[in-house]
Amino acid sequence: MTHDQTLSRMVLVLVLVALGLLQACAEQTDPWHEDANTGRWYTQELVAQGEQVYQTHCANCHGAKAEATPQWIKPDADGLYPPPPLNGTAHAWHHPLPMLKKTINEGTTGRMPAWQDKLSDQEVDAVIAWFQSLWPDQGYLIWQRRHKH
Ligand code: HEC
Repeated sequence: MTHDQTLSRMVLVLVLVALGLLQACAEQTDPWHEDANTGRWYTQELVAQGEQVYQTHCANCHGAKAEATPQWIKPDADGLYPPPPLNGTAHAWHHPLPMLKKTINEGTTGRMPAWQDKLSDQEVDAVIAWFQSLWPDQGYLIWQRRHKH
């Protein structure tokens, strides 16, 4: 191989690596990229996808409209907490996006299962988008203000 050929190969490899990095960045969801219509971080497509994920995997515990359990503050006889509502009436809005993702991916020491082996990153984003779409604007704005850096 001539010197020139080696050089052009190296350039080609570098360009491919750079393109890969660019693509990886573009694929990350930016929580503070606001949708022009709703002012929220997610698109309506993501919400629609999230609804499917939610109804398949989460509704049996958290309720079809993410309203369960009304008595979420009270632990059961084993001292474990029931599934809280995710519709904005309970505690979820106290948590920033990375923490919501972590809870969903890893579960809790209580009765919340871990989802990281069953759902993709995109599906976890989507399910959060779906339950956040149930939050009233005021709650969403407080959450956003609190957790935006
Ligand atoms: C087997 C029942 C069950 C299923 C299925 C389940 N959860 Fe949970 N989830 C719980 C329980 C119980 C808690 C409270 C755990 C605790 O306090 O330790 C919880 C807590 C959470 C929290 C934390 C809320 C907060 O206010 O801190 C989030 C977020 C959550 N679940 C999302 C989901 C999502 C999304 C799915 C579906 C992918 C799901 N859960 C499926 C039982 C479940």
